Amino acid sequence: MSKHRLLSTVGAAALAVFGFPFAAAQAAALTGVVSSAEEGAMEGVIVSAHKDGSNITVSVISDDKGHYAFPADKLSPGKYAITIRAAGWELDSAKSLDLADAAATNDVKLKKTKNLAKQLTNAEWMASIPGTDDQKRDMINCVSCHTLERIVRSSYDSDGFVAIQTRMSSYAQVSQPIKPQPRKEFSRSEDPEKRFRKMADYLATINLSESPTWNYELKTMPRVKGRGTHVVITEYDLPRKTIEPHDVIVFNGSVYYTNFGEQFLGKLDMTTGKPSEYEMKVFKPGWPTGNLDINPDKDGNLWVGMMYQAALAKFDPKTEQFTYFPVSAERNKDDTQLNMVTLHQDLDGKIWTNDAGSQGILRLDVNTGKYEDLNPIAVLPGGKAQHSFYDIAPDASNNLFLTDFQSNTIMRVDAKDFSTKTYQVATPVARNRRGHMDAQGRFWFAEFRGNNIGMLDTTTEKTTEFPMPTKFTSPYDVVWDKNGDLWTGGMTTDRVVRLDPKTGAAVEYPLPRDTNMRRVFVDNSTPIPTFWVGSNHGASIVKVEPQD
Ligand code: HEC
Repeated sequence: MSKHRLLSTVGAAALAVFGFPFAAAQAAALTGVVSSAEEGAMEGVIVSAHKDGSNITVSVISDDKGHYAFPADKLSPGKYAITIRAAGWELDSAKSLDLADAAATNDVKLKKTKNLAKQLTNAEWMASIPGTDDQKRDMINCVSCHTLERIVRSSYDSDGFVAIQTRMSSYAQVSQPIKPQPRKEFSRSEDPEKRFRKMADYLATINLSESPTWNYELKTMPRVKGRGTHVVITEYDLPRKTIEPHDVIVFNGSVYYTNFGEQFLGKLDMTTGKPSEYEMKVFKPGWPTGNLDINPDKDGNLWVGMMYQAALAKFDPKTEQFTYFPVSAERNKDDTQLNMVTLHQDLDGKIWTNDAGSQGILRLDVNTGKYEDLNPIAVLPGGKAQHSFYDIAPDASNNLFLTDFQSNTIMRVDAKDFSTKTYQVATPVARNRRGHMDAQGRFWFAEFRGNNIGMLDTTTEKTTEFPMPTKFTSPYDVVWDKNGDLWTGGMTTDRVVRLDPKTGAAVEYPLPRDTNMRRVFVDNSTPIPTFWVGSNHGASIVKVEPQD
């Protein structure tokens, strides 16, 4: 139901009883108008309110009249700092407010920023830098541990960048500049010259190696309009900057998340926003720490992929205890990395996982704790050199579907005889990333480089692609809600995308801060679905509540 229809129904009923149409529907704690001398009233500006001493920041977005409104139940009385996000703009002067019980009005004046470079998202840098689309698309290799700002502000020449890229590839993907985590293995033996020179030559043309400032225009994405402004966003800060919330899910009324950089499972109380943590076993001291996938099983346990710790963990939320399933000593190699974990073991007692180090696919027998080891990648032309598996998803019979992160391939592995079958999406080098299987046997996944949502209908064996509304969005994952809308986000635009696959139309909800988004989740228990995601580099959990 659209906001307008909702308002008019509520309004009509209220009018009949109280003779005053909109009071109930529009009750707001804080309202005002966002404007600037240059533009007058401004649409699509994010206004954020952060209460002193709290870990919660609430944001709303101004509409076509420049009007913004925080719902009354989102801001309790207290002292708030007000901030904004709109590329090219900043607050005319710092703003703090004392909110009492009564509703407050406060207009927000903006001025043009003198430091636009500081505000650009990765996608805006990619739109601004000179180069071919293919050269720019290679930059998505550089956004998982830090922003592109670090690269364009540097002054390395081509030789410098060959050395830098060699150093970057020595870090595990769980790294960020405040906590680099070196890999134990260095399996890629290819000559750095061969591997990095071409990109290094390019990188040296977009940074400050030859001029004190960028000799290209800095471009910004247009601000969102209309439905994209109908949203309330709540960010819950976590207690340490080194926490990297990667997979965030709502389960039994709580939010659980995997910490990508540390050996903890995290939890957030949805009502109070209070974070807590469960410490996990470190099986391999000295190896990178961090977890990736998290999924519930039918018995109410949560399963976690423990990555370089070479184990899966089962967490029972009732007893708050972990049971661990490490790989055997012989199978445990320097590069072993169990990332993903599937949840259909109720069918046959088997749980699939993947080893991103060997590129093997493992299947755990939950009763014996033993893993079977398969090597389906060998079937693909070029094998490991030209393919790598990213995500795994079981169908209703626990057959496994795999995304290929180097090409445009999807693979099926049969649960009974391990026979394989491959499919392709139309976009070459789509780099298929995270995905999920729906109840109709449609496998939905994000095309990180292809900039589409891909779908394989496992019954008809046909693939379909749905393009992103903004170039270089580089979606990471996709989920659907009870109305059939698809939801995604990624590491470049700081925008959540809601796409209607029936029409291909998409709404973007801009987020208040640099939010390196990974797995996405939709909670369908709210009247309008609620979207949840982790800010992987921002150490916060983000809740997005569309208003229609
Ligand atoms: C796996 C994580 C990771 C990836 C991927 C990554 N970086 Fe980094 N980067 C880091 C870390 C950690 C630091 C800080 C420590 C350091 O400088 O070595 C850093 C720092 C940098 C710096 C600043 C270094 C300095 O001394 O000024 C540059 C430039 C840089 N990265 C370029 C790149 C480029 C180009 C790419 C993509 C080809 C990339 N990074 C991809 C982890 C990564």
